[in-house]
Amino acid sequence: MISRAAALLLAFSTLPLTAEVRDLKAFFQERCAVCHGPDGTGRGASGARLGGRNLAEARWLARQEEAGLVASILKGRGAMPGFRRQLSEAEARRLVKEFIRPVAARKRP
Ligand code: HEC
Repeated sequence: MISRAAALLLAFSTLPLTAEVRDLKAFFQERCAVCHGPDGTGRGASGARLGGRNLAEARWLARQEEAGLVASILKGRGAMPGFRRQLSEAEARRLVKEFIRPVAARKRP
């Protein structure tokens, strides 16, 4: 009989592989910038609002829990679609930690 652990391992091994080395900055530019702007401010090159929230607003971001932002990215929120089919949870967390937070840190509040 197949053990529970082996069954779990089997289940996980059939999940689509997400590239560990995926360039999440490029992913942001491809999939998120359409609404959040290339710099995360929610504005396009011309300064026009694109519809996504300003992710570079340091004061807002400082109040956000990482888990909440990750959940929003994966499940969607308001007008934002969920990205659970394109991103693993670890990747969504990396987007918040390595891209969204540092971008806000570079901006004035
Ligand atoms: C179709 C436009 C659209 C796209 C594409 C989009 N967003 Fe959003 N995003 C929004 C809008 C609108 C909100 C504000 C949602 C609300 O609070 O009602 C938002 C909110 C967010 C928030 C804040 C969530 C919260 O809990 O307050 C984060 C973080 C975020 N987006 C990241 C991303 C990332 C990362 C991507 C790409 C993987 C992305 N968004 C793609 C429109 C978009």
